[in-house]
Amino acid sequence: MPLPFHYSLLAPLILLLPFSSALVYNTFDGPGFPACYNVSQVLAPSSIPEVISIVRSAAASGSRVRAAGKGHSWYDTQCSDAETIIVQTEGLHGIYDFNLPDGAEEGEVTVDAGVTFFQLAEYLHERGASVGYTLTNWNISFGGSVAMGAHRSSIREHSMVAAGALAMEIVDGKGEVRRVERDDGDDEWLAASTSLGLLGIIVRVRLRIYKDTKVYAKQETLDERHVLEGDIYGMIAPYATANLWWWPYKRKFHHRYYDVVDPKSTPQQGFQNTFSVTELEAIAARTMLDSGKFLPTSNMLAEEIFFGLWSKPNFREKTNNTEIHDWPVYGWNYDVLIGGLYPDQKPEWDYKLAGYTLELAFPVTMANQMLKRVRSLFDAELKKLIVMTSTYRSGINIKFGKAYYDLLGQGTYNTSDGADWTKGTIMFDFPSYRPTIGDNKRFNEQFYHKVADTLIAEFPCRPHWTKNTRDVISKSVKNLDPDHLRRFNEVRKRFDPNGMYRSVVGEILGFYN
Ligand SMILES: Cc1cc2nc3c(=O)[nH]c(=O)nc-3n(C[C@H](O)[C@H](O)[C@H](O)COP(=O)(O)OP(=O)(O)OC[C@H]3O[C@@H](n4cnc5c(N)ncnc54)[C@H](O)[C@@H]3O)c2cc1C
Ligand SMILES: *[C@@H]1O[C@H](CO)[C@@H](O)[C@H](O)[C@H]1NC(C)=O
Ligand SMILES: *[C@@H]1O[C@H](CO)[C@@H](O)[C@H](O)[C@H]1NC(C)=O
Ligand SMILES: *[C@@H]1O[C@H](CO)[C@@H](O)[C@H](O)[C@H]1NC(C)=O
Ligand SMILES: *[C@@H]1O[C@H](CO)[C@@H](O)[C@H](O)[C@H]1NC(C)=O
Repeated sequence: MPLPFHYSLLAPLILLLPFSSALVYNTFDGPGFPACYNVSQVLAPSSIPEVISIVRSAAASGSRVRAAGKGHSWYDTQCSDAETIIVQTEGLHGIYDFNLPDGAEEGEVTVDAGVTFFQLAEYLHERGASVGYTLTNWNISFGGSVAMGAHRSSIREHSMVAAGALAMEIVDGKGEVRRVERDDGDDEWLAASTSLGLLGIIVRVRLRIYKDTKVYAKQETLDERHVLEGDIYGMIAPYATANLWWWPYKRKFHHRYYDVVDPKSTPQQGFQNTFSVTELEAIAARTMLDSGKFLPTSNMLAEEIFFGLWSKPNFREKTNNTEIHDWPVYGWNYDVLIGGLYPDQKPEWDYKLAGYTLELAFPVTMANQMLKRVRSLFDAELKKLIVMTSTYRSGINIKFGKAYYDLLGQGTYNTSDGADWTKGTIMFDFPSYRPTIGDNKRFNEQFYHKVADTLIAEFPCRPHWTKNTRDVISKSVKNLDPDHLRRFNEVRKRFDPNGMYRSVVGEILGFYN
């Protein structure tokens, strides 16, 4: 990925004109869902030289800066609380230097930071390639996912987005472009691999790609006991990607798994519906779940309905947009693993169906112990005659990760906690409906905090970096390896000595003390 020219020669002069008062910058959920509280301006550069120029002007005036991708995060942890300039990467959407020689299984491609999974998937599919399993959802940027350690779910294959990166270019705190190459012996790479945006703005990523494949998706329904007492590792590890969805009120799990098939074996082109709903479904769900703020029976009914819907394939045939009724479903890699929106529907958040979430990673060797502990917390409520449920349309998401070594990733190993992370991780991702009414708190709100506090206190678990509240991240710091934090901070000081890229997450981790 050689740079074609010296960027700074082309950098236009950018004047930073602050708003008269700070504004709130929201997540994808819009007003009421702040990502940053104190934003002086939102800039949308359309080239890397422009990014450099913005950063240099900001550095000269002592301003803070944070990159922004597609806003797909949940909480108010993106910036620090002091005045910050937001630099959106949407205008950085080039895809370059595609290289997958005929007959080769693997190749490479370079993307600008603002490229989304959907954009790259389309580009690659036209050229007979895919990014494999290092994926997240469709409208999320590569810059945002690599920065925050985002991942899919697999034990057998690498599925953390950063694991598919071979090199990246970062605009540091002086406005210089630094190129960092994959090298497990180099702390700069190990820090850049999950940088939390604290080293600077990632502007380009070189990615590993693969020959495109067709895959199948299959799903089974399991009794809860079968999973809690079962060989969880054995349910996940054999497949290219697999996960569980837990229905705690129904005491059931869905077990979803995917793997490669011969492309000639099937004409089907299944396309997964990731988050789309019809307006009618959305209004029904919202009405039911809002009443569930007070009435547990509404939540019980909701889980019953969601479970029934989620038992069927959430796929359509892409060529003619007709529903697919039977498992397994077959189709092209990206369409089946992720898919997107159906053409006649909108994403749930466009209908004010918003959520809270919590996501923690545990060593997969503790999978049964962790899930049983959560079960015991549900049961403790039942003893008080309080029925708790999943209020999310696909239940509680249980994901997995292959061990991946870096400093701040959820799946790293060889850490001072002495836990065995080498077999991989299990992630407990507990989304829940955020009532649109009153104080927006959930039915039996304290239960959710009890679950988080108990797991963090009793297990060596690590937080996902965009799916947890400030409180959860603060409490989780005790579970992180102090030596990893120290090594990360040494690199950070070299990239950003004045801390212009600081965020609430970086502050909680103690990097600016
Ligand atoms: C509906 C939905 C589904 C999701 N699915 C998954 C999933 O399957 N797996 C998973 O792990 N996560 C998932 N996430 C979380 C998501 O992957 C992360 O929050 C990701 O960071 C969002 O990227 P973004 O492009 O939307 O960036 P933003 O939300 O805009 O930014 C996220 C953070 O990254 C920083 N950042 C963004 N771009 C850059 C850059 N170029 N350089 C440096 N820092 C940058 C920002 O400053 C911010 O701190 C999901 C989120 C949503 C809302
Ligand atoms: C993707 O995100 C952009 C905002 O960054 C939004 O305008 C667009 O509608 C989204 N696309 C889908 C399919 O949700
Ligand atoms: C915004 O940050 C500035 C410092 O950068 C601070 O003085 C001000 O109080 C902050 N405003 C809000 C609303 O937090
Ligand atoms: C849609 O396409 C699939 C796969 O080619 C085919 O089996 C099905 O009959 C088609 N349905 C309609 C309504 O055209
Ligand atoms: C594991 O940690 C030890 C001690 O910190 C170190 O010597 C060793 O190189 C590490 N191994 C890996 C794979 O990082």
